[in-house]
Amino acid sequence: MITRKPLILSVVAVWLASCCVVFAAPFRPTHAGKAMVVSVNELASRAGVEIMKAGGNAIDAAVATGFALAVVHPQAGNIGGGGFMLIRLADGSAHFLDYREKAPAAATRDMYLDAQGQVIKDASLLGYKAIGVPGSVAGMVEAQRHWGRLKLARVMQPAIQLAKLGFPLSYEDAKEFHDKHLTEYDDSRKLFQRNGNFYKQGEVFRQPELARTLEKISSDPNSFYKGSIARELVNEMKKGGGLITEKDLAEYEVKEREVVRGTYRGYEILGAPPPSSGGVALIEILNILEGYDLAKLGNRSAASIHVTSEAFRRAMYDRADFMGDPDFSQVPTPQLIDKKYAAAWRETIDPDRASPSRQLKRPAFAALDRLALANINPLTQNPIHEPENTTHYSVVDEQGNAVAVTTTLNDSFGSHVTAGSLGFLLNDEMDDFSSKPGVPNTYGLIQGPANDIGPAKRPLSAMTPTIVTKDGKLFLVLGSPGGPRIITTVANILMGVIDYGLNIQQAVNAPRFHHQWLPDSIAMESVGFSPDTIKLLSSKGHKLDFSSYWSDGECIEVDPKTGELLGGSDARNNGKAVGY
Ligand code: GLY
Repeated sequence: MITRKPLILSVVAVWLASCCVVFAAPFRPTHAGKAMVVSVNELASRAGVEIMKAGGNAIDAAVATGFALAVVHPQAGNIGGGGFMLIRLADGSAHFLDYREKAPAAATRDMYLDAQGQVIKDASLLGYKAIGVPGSVAGMVEAQRHWGRLKLARVMQPAIQLAKLGFPLSYEDAKEFHDKHLTEYDDSRKLFQRNGNFYKQGEVFRQPELARTLEKISSDPNSFYKGSIARELVNEMKKGGGLITEKDLAEYEVKEREVVRGTYRGYEILGAPPPSSGGVALIEILNILEGYDLAKLGNRSAASIHVTSEAFRRAMYDRADFMGDPDFSQVPTPQLIDKKYAAAWRETIDPDRASPSRQLKRPAFAALDRLALANINPLTQNPIHEPENTTHYSVVDEQGNAVAVTTTLNDSFGSHVTAGSLGFLLNDEMDDFSSKPGVPNTYGLIQGPANDIGPAKRPLSAMTPTIVTKDGKLFLVLGSPGGPRIITTVANILMGVIDYGLNIQQAVNAPRFHHQWLPDSIAMESVGFSPDTIKLLSSKGHKLDFSSYWSDGECIEVDPKTGELLGGSDARNNGKAVGY
């Protein structure tokens, strides 16, 4: 049983910390001898640690952290969204749970187009029609039932207490609650904005309605899909013109999918399979880069940023053309992660010149060619809006079980619709489909069909929960939010450790760069790259776009020498590693 006192004390401790500490990037990793949780929010990390100290394993802790994030990080933590959970058990077996949202049965390919075939502004982003059938509750409950040790009710207790007792809002949370779209939906305005009496930093945010919903789930998890919560959710949908029906909820299924596997310089990479593009794209990038001595080229040198960006460009081009829900489209995963295919791509990289994205020519590769002819119109993908508000957390327990979870409402606060008196936000994951298939975009290009909207289909994701092992031993647990930048953020962190010899905290801190094929430019964080490097990259023909910072790596490294756990949390978002 959780006692109220420690929780209240920890809430107060965090409040004191948030009042007194100016956050700065941690330079050193957080050390722990036995177990660790790293997430975007200290209270959520503590929820997982509390559960492990109470006898739970990493899966129990991951589920406790996931439910706690739905309370303390409503921008992305959720029970109204979806996610992916990658598990590596201490016995070496690996499992991947897909609890991505599904399109409702009534969804249609052109549902976000007007009579003239133009995309209706914000229709897939805001409001009831943007909402996909949520999978998070089913996924977390299934993981806990299958691999957890404790009772679900115990695992959910920290989240329920946080919702009931509340927690002090950080400066950033209080500011983000001002979101103008939250104001547009009555229940969201009431919950997050007290109908105009906005929360201030340090004020306690209580969510009694969410606490009731979580209590119901903890005693009867089926109620979310087949019982009283489902009925209430569907009533809300009807009020707002949403498409989700009781049948959609009742038919929601968690899918256990085969983990996508690769190798990189002697390390084994375990990644997220479709409908995530994350694992496939990450492995394709690493396969291309394996042919370069990145350490010799130098960490963040123009030469290493150039070849890495060229690898990003090529993998993201393949992502755009070939990836979607594998239950509906043929996704050529084995070909895309084939090292021979990567070698052929490598041949197309000029060490001195950027390859213009629109002139990129995919190397001949038998199965891909057939698929391209049968199914795909290459060079045809719209650059689509992919929001960056998701969240990732990593967990390792005393036995060496490891869990990497990335979960999302898609945009920050999802569709901005709160599910009435159920007290939780609903996703806008329908926006991760291509809204406008078959219609030329501003480049005169036409999208391929792999990620079209379809009833019961899961939209393509970039979420990249990743686990790395060496000689059969756990080494890294990685992940981040960031829309399409998730993939390159995870790649940057992984290369930071493996190629450049950084510890996990340094690798998380290191300045990020990204290329996603279109737009044809390298996105770079504005702090951390030298002017000389920037000049050299420009002279190779790269267009460079600077923004302050992005993503939020919340990662764990197992020190190969001592076995100690090293937490790398991201100061960009005040993330926190907690262990013991
Ligand atoms: N909605 C973000 C992602 O799934 O990649």
